[in-house]
Amino acid sequence: MKIEPFLTEQFFADYEFSSPHLLASSDCETLSIATLLKMAGSSLEELGQVTLGYTESQGNLMLRSRIAEMYSGIEPSDIVILTSPVEGIYLGMQALLEAGDEVVALRPAYDALNNVARHLCRKVVPWKLSPGDGQWTLDFDQLDSLVGARTKMIVVNFPHNPTGFVPSPAEFEQLISFARQHDLWLFCDEIYRGLEWDAAIASAAELYEKSIVLGGLSKTYGLPGLRAGWLVVRDAEIRAELINWKHYTTICPAAPTEFLAEKALSIRYELANRSKAIIQQNLSLCREFFARFGDLFTWRAPQAGSVAFVELNLDQLGFESATEYCHHLAQDHGIVLLPGKCLGDDDRFVRMGLGREAFGASLAAYAAVISAMGGRSPVSSG
Ligand SMILES: Cc1ncc(COP(=O)(O)O)c(C=O)c1O
Repeated sequence: MKIEPFLTEQFFADYEFSSPHLLASSDCETLSIATLLKMAGSSLEELGQVTLGYTESQGNLMLRSRIAEMYSGIEPSDIVILTSPVEGIYLGMQALLEAGDEVVALRPAYDALNNVARHLCRKVVPWKLSPGDGQWTLDFDQLDSLVGARTKMIVVNFPHNPTGFVPSPAEFEQLISFARQHDLWLFCDEIYRGLEWDAAIASAAELYEKSIVLGGLSKTYGLPGLRAGWLVVRDAEIRAELINWKHYTTICPAAPTEFLAEKALSIRYELANRSKAIIQQNLSLCREFFARFGDLFTWRAPQAGSVAFVELNLDQLGFESATEYCHHLAQDHGIVLLPGKCLGDDDRFVRMGLGREAFGASLAAYAAVISAMGGRSPVSSG
């Protein structure tokens, strides 16, 4: 059975490696293997000692122990190491969902969180984040109205891609109680965890026994090329089912990745603080930019994470849709913003990525393009 096109990855495939100004990337600034090892007190010589045999399917115990330390009340045996974070969405949903089940999933969302579920059980009901005054909001009455007799799982992602929304502790507990009351599984994608400005939010893994939690090194720690990710699965039966699916996909993690992931996690606060400093710097540039071009955009600052979802004033910009605008910017000006439609939302939003060091230079290039265009002739007049 075919699966829907992965619009986000397709859009990036068209422009990511050929455009000078990446303003939509969700990962944070990366670093070289040599720098990472030096920061972690290791060396290229030590990496050179890693052997290239098969590894344990569930993942190396030292790495799983390091990950378990990031959560309270979680054991190394609860962790499954993945061959990429995105693999965890596939495995988690394969282990739990079948035809006839229904899923309630936060929208907008990273494509895989909706599309894999829809592929497996055909019915995914969107739980929509609303663009409020100054920030995004969650509506629990809406959630209540979406759950039915066949609902098996709620899918969320906090800190959220693309809006940067984070629930308050009270909202998060309300969500957990709701899931428990209705006996639902909670798939919680926490790949941006650690990018909160203040204390990290609790993990669903710590609060709810029927959760599957996704973590990884791609975003917060700036290491997407490592393809390092993990699931926290407290339910032993589901964990075994999921590992069985893993035998059909990647069998076991890559040995060099496990070695480097363990080193990265030994300096995780340093890496996360490095990312947060870049994001804060870029957020202050955004405040100036959106104050300057307030008639063209509605800016809702993210509460955490490395992305923001910006509303376009399409009439002022002179385009029919965010998709049309983004293709124009990429093709004519080498500026990459991701159309919100890729993430299942209205075609009047774009995702901005705040974790890269070159963001300031790219935003300045974007400002120059806007000033030169002055908005294309408004669609209404042309
Ligand atoms: C919310 C979310 N989950 C999972 C992933 C997948 O991460 P990776 O591309 O490192 O596999 C992404 C990537 O953009 C994401 O934004």
